[in-house]
Amino acid sequence: MKILLIHGPNLNMLGKREATIYGHKTLSEIDSLIEKRAQELGVEVLTFQSNSEGALIDFIQTESLKAEGIIINPGALTHYGLSLRDALADSALPVIEVHLSNIYAREEWRQKSVIAPIARGQVSGLGWRGYIAALEILVAEKAQ
Ligand code: DQA
Repeated sequence: MKILLIHGPNLNMLGKREATIYGHKTLSEIDSLIEKRAQELGVEVLTFQSNSEGALIDFIQTESLKAEGIIINPGALTHYGLSLRDALADSALPVIEVHLSNIYAREEWRQKSVIAPIARGQVSGLGWRGYIAALEILVAEKAQ
């Protein structure tokens, strides 16, 4: 089983970026923790980060054909990225949307996700462990 793990704009800055909101771990530290859990679960994770919506869409279009689920933190594209939403919907894969922060406890504009209506589900506000939960759920649902 292969899962795509996708990080949107500005998430490459984790560790330096608003650590009180997003935590102190860098993106590569988070990716390593997810990779460790994926190995324990016996699944392959293909990771991609971009600050460009087009690059994220290109990755989804190419790689979703060979994958069985998507975990994505779309960054601020969560709130307005309609092309990204369409690409995720077109993949026809189960998508779990992850946010490090609780978007519902923040500014009003962050409280709307254009991705959520096409997602299998959403994890918001649980920090890096939200990615682990998403991975475990995709794997468990596939096994059923
Ligand atoms: C975020 C929340 C978004 O509103 C923000 O633009 C991000 C990170 C999160 O993980 O909490 O870049 O997706």
